Amino acid sequence: MSTSTGKRSDADRVLIFDTTLRDGEQSPGISLNKQEKLEIAHQLTRLGVDVIEAGFPIASPGDFESVQAIAREVQGPVICGLARTSHQDVEAAWNAVRDSERPRIHTFISTSDIHIEHQLQTTREDVKGQARAAVAQARGYVEDVEFSPMDATRADVEFTAEVVQIAIDEGASTINVADTVGYVMPDEFQAYLARLYELVPALRNVTLSVHCHDDLGLAVANSFAGVLAGARQVECAINGIGERAGNAALEEIVMLLRTRRAHIGLDTSINTTELARTSRLVSRLTGYVVQPNKAIVGRNAFAHESGIHQDGVLKERTTYEIMDATTVGVSSNSIVLGKHSGRHALRSALEEMGFELDGQALNTAFKRFKAIADRKKQVTAMDLEALVTDELREEIAGFTLDWFEVEASSLRPPHAKVSVNLPDGSTASGSFTGDGPIDAVFQAINAATGVAAKLSDFTIGAVTEGQDALGEVSIVLEVDGSTGAGQGVSTDIIDASARAYVRALSVAVARSAAGGAIGLPETAGG
Ligand code: KIV
Ligand code: ZN
Repeated sequence: MSTSTGKRSDADRVLIFDTTLRDGEQSPGISLNKQEKLEIAHQLTRLGVDVIEAGFPIASPGDFESVQAIAREVQGPVICGLARTSHQDVEAAWNAVRDSERPRIHTFISTSDIHIEHQLQTTREDVKGQARAAVAQARGYVEDVEFSPMDATRADVEFTAEVVQIAIDEGASTINVADTVGYVMPDEFQAYLARLYELVPALRNVTLSVHCHDDLGLAVANSFAGVLAGARQVECAINGIGERAGNAALEEIVMLLRTRRAHIGLDTSINTTELARTSRLVSRLTGYVVQPNKAIVGRNAFAHESGIHQDGVLKERTTYEIMDATTVGVSSNSIVLGKHSGRHALRSALEEMGFELDGQALNTAFKRFKAIADRKKQVTAMDLEALVTDELREEIAGFTLDWFEVEASSLRPPHAKVSVNLPDGSTASGSFTGDGPIDAVFQAINAATGVAAKLSDFTIGAVTEGQDALGEVSIVLEVDGSTGAGQGVSTDIIDASARAYVRALSVAVARSAAGGAIGLPETAGG
């Protein structure tokens, strides 16, 4: 397939810029703490992404600290911090990433008239000046600077070209063209980028990147069109999370390039066998459930229902499968431990899976492992993964579940009593007689915390197959117009639901207290 040439040295390799922790974290209801962000960043490193956009340091002290912790602790990928073009933003981004062995500052400003007039309330000349100053400032700190013309696909390409030229003149080494509102179509995007190459020949000396949103379901198609036009970096997020309908799904663009490599002639450095695990981790920590039919990482992405298909696959896998499930890591659910396994066995099993737990964290994991092993004959790698991720969720500041009691019968309405640990260290109890046992527990938690939360989404799944499988519950709820998402894992579905509810409540209450969105500035990137 013929592709326009990007930067020559990267001619057959597409860099994967992961923005799960920045654009992804801007999805409604998601709020990850530092520990969770670090866990995701380590997993992204195992996955082999080239760049981790770790956050938006100016947004809040919490964001700054998380980006700084990732920059200090995570080695391998480039660690990038986002900044608007203001002096304080660029400075904060630099201070957050400066301790990384491979720091990058990513600065952006809109080039569309809609944004310039209505949101920025300024002029094109001012936008050029801001872009120049921000890139120059960033280059004063670090060599690796990325510049994005935001909402570029709705902007005048000639004006965008002028701004891009300025950014290149000031030393930006990556130019990222953003389809901020998911409006462009693949052929249109290719033509737009081809025109940009004509208008800015120096674009061939830097890395062209694309950042596409999924409002019309075209994020991956548009990213691919960008690659065909010469882009050698794609910005994407695990499970496609991000503002509104989300970003291009990392796993989809990666598997498209890998599966059709012979035709396209391009590939990434991603270790695809880590895709499924990364997807599960992000889903658990964000509370965003992956739809069953989601390409690559959905539960059914490799399942065959019709007899004809099953028959074909049994005879020859490739009759109905274009990818082997093992290449994306949907595979081994090996039995690792049982109820006689000790702390040492647990620790080495976890280490083998990439989790390093010591001290209190190991004690807690061991206690929960024992409780599960008592009820479940075989504890698999998938169970352990769910359990450890569930423990990470405990670190959300806010409420935690102390205990609950439910009386359920088909003869009278169920009654629940709960005790919840409050943020100030005290406990509060509440009780409720509800429609069903889970509803009664949720209402009792509302009574204990004094928060009138409204449930908006409730999903139950099983971590593995079989009757004794661990149950996994995902909840989205609303407090005063602010959403919070949470997940819980347990052999007891009521316990998993109560844990998920309390976590979602903590996130929603924190968001509501922060005025709807935790610390994001009004003109944050999309
Ligand atoms: O969607 C967007 O335009 C963004 C920019 C910050 C690149 O997220
Ligand atoms: Zn975006």
